[in-house]
Formats: sequence, C-alpha cells, structure tokens
Amino acid sequence: GKGQHRHFMLKEIFEQPEVIGGTLNTMLNPAERTITLPTLPFDLASVGRVRIIACGTSYYAGSVAKYWIEKVARLPVEVDIASEFRYREPPMEPGGLAIFISQSGETADTLAALRYCRANHQHTLALVNVPESTISRESEATLLTLAGPEIGVASTKAFTTQLVVLACLAVGLGRARGAITRETEATICQALAETPARIAEFLRRDDEIHQIAQGIAEARDVLYLGRGTGYPIALEGALKLKEISYIHAEGYAAGELKHGPIALIDDSVPVIVICPTDELYEKTASNVQEVMARGGRVVFFSDQEGVGRLATPAHAAMALPTVHPFVAPILYAIPVQLLAYHVAIAKGTDVDQPRNLAKSVTVE
Ligand code: M6R
Repeated sequence: GKGQHRHFMLKEIFEQPEVIGGTLNTMLNPAERTITLPTLPFDLASVGRVRIIACGTSYYAGSVAKYWIEKVARLPVEVDIASEFRYREPPMEPGGLAIFISQSGETADTLAALRYCRANHQHTLALVNVPESTISRESEATLLTLAGPEIGVASTKAFTTQLVVLACLAVGLGRARGAITRETEATICQALAETPARIAEFLRRDDEIHQIAQGIAEARDVLYLGRGTGYPIALEGALKLKEISYIHAEGYAAGELKHGPIALIDDSVPVIVICPTDELYEKTASNVQEVMARGGRVVFFSDQEGVGRLATPAHAAMALPTVHPFVAPILYAIPVQLLAYHVAIAKGTDVDQPRNLAKSVTVE
C-alpha cells in the first residue's frame, strides 16, 4: 500500500535512498571502493561501440549514461528512442553492445528493437526492474534495478536505480578497457556510496519544493534547462511535469537557449535550471542571467557554492547537498520529481493515474 504517503508516487520518491542503496549493494564494494559487475556472456573489453535503446524516462536514463560511458570508458555511445530506432533499421557492425533499458521489461518498441539487434549480431544486455519480463528473457544478459514494484505511472525510483546501475556499468566498461585509473574508480565509488544519504538529506526539505511549486501551478508553459548530464535531467523534469500536472513543459540544453527558446521567455514563464557546481557551471549560470534579464522566473537548483556564485539572485533557489559531479544527475532527479508532484497536487490532478497514460506501453 501507500503507507503513510498520500500517493504511490510520493511513496516511491521517498523510497529512493533505500532502493538505490539496495541496487548499489549488488555491485559496489564500499570498503574496497570497487565495482564488480555480474559475469556477462561476452567480453566487455572487446566492445567497440555501445548503443542504448529505450522509451520515455528510461531513454533519459540512457541519455545520462551516454555522458558517463563516453567519459569514463572512452567508448562511443549512441542513444536511441526505440520507436525511431526500430523503423530506421540502422546498419550495425557485428559485435557491438546494445543495452535495452525498461522498467517493465515489456515495452513493445524496446522489445522490437532488441529483436532487431539480436538479428543483427549485437551483444544484448537488458536493464530491467522485472526479472522475468520479456525483454530480460530475450536478452543475452540482464542487469537488475532493485526498485521494487513501481505503481505510480510517473516513473521515479525506477529512473534513479537505472542511473546507478548505468553508473556502475560505465565504471565496469572503463575498467575492462583500461580507460579508468584505480583512483578515479575509487572516487566514483565513494560518491555513489554516499548518494543514498545525500538524497535522504534532501528529501527532508520537501516543504521547500512544495513552496516553490505554488508559484508554478498557474503557469501555462515551463522550461527546464541543463548542461551535460543535467540536460537529460531537464528533459526528465519536463516529462514528469507534463505527465502529472498537464502543464506544457520543455527541456532544453542550456546552450540551445539562444537558438530559439529564449523567444518564449517573459515573466509568465518559470525556468527551472539544473546547475550543480561542475566544469560547466559558469556556462549555465550565464544562461540564467540572460533569462533573468528578460524577466524569466528562474528556479535555480544548485549547491551552496553554486547558489552563492550566482550574480543576481534567482526568483527561487535551492542549495542541494554538495556531491561529486559524476553522481549529480542522480541527486538532481529528486527535486524535479518532487516539483512535478507538488505542482500536480496544487492543480488537483490524479497523480498516480494521469489521464491518457498507461504504466506499461505494450502495444505501439
Ligand atoms: O517500462 P519502460 O521503462 O520501458 O517504460 C518506458 C516509458 O513508457 C516510461 O518511462 C514512461 O515514459 C513513464 N510514464 C515516464 O514517467
């Protein structure tokens, strides 16, 4: 049941420290600060390219993984939406690694893409939350998210557990290829091991998100901006808001602002910014100045240093716990989930059963 929580979605958001910890435990040794992937039926060292295929929120998890795998394993990664991939019928060199991310393991387009990749001699790896699902059964190997049953139509804990598995996979690929130093692996492991506690810390500030949400419930359009791994989090935030509050929202790479979306900005458009302190901080912060100069109402998610460094104070800002930039997308997923939830509550929509949506899309 929902326990003390009003909705499954809220319960599932609050379960994240626990299920992320449980998922990490399957691969991460916190004392040694190493990651051990389960034995796979193919050699990760000989993989020359990676393709990640998924739909919806799972596609955004794959989009974060592209940055991670390219960075720590120095492997080229392509990420595809399953419904586009399957009909494009792309040519594929035999021996590539194709990863299929799906909470349910039953999404029709993702399954069709898996069958296409098998027929085209790819190594296939499923990342699912349901071990006995079709996508798991038809893949050569499976990595499991231990999110437990996800009831809310809006995916939350499945997403963040997908992210931690993908982070571990990126490190595993990096090690297999000799692309990552022992020291970097230890640093990432340490950061991952601390993530559940950082999320738990942030969840205690739910009331601050509730406050921010009151100013967004009246908006007609909302923009989400981010760079690097913050970009897919912006896309995910926009999807969450659309799904459960029915407010039109768009996620953009912050660097794209000048190429079009800045034309939308006025004082009626809230702009949610994902901006941890990392090597791209200044770039995004300068986009924030441009938005504010046009009257945009910026909600700034950063850390203490990042909030402090902002030249003009934002309409609203939250300093999240400071984390290593590698794990920032996992932590920054939480405020966008909570924001969507509280905006939906303010609007009185059906959070767990949004109109027109099914939990699992098993037909096209
Ligand atoms: O079960 P899957 O992960 O394959 O589902 C993919 C999408 O249908 C799913 O993530 C959908 O976008 C959610 N409603 C997002 O909250």
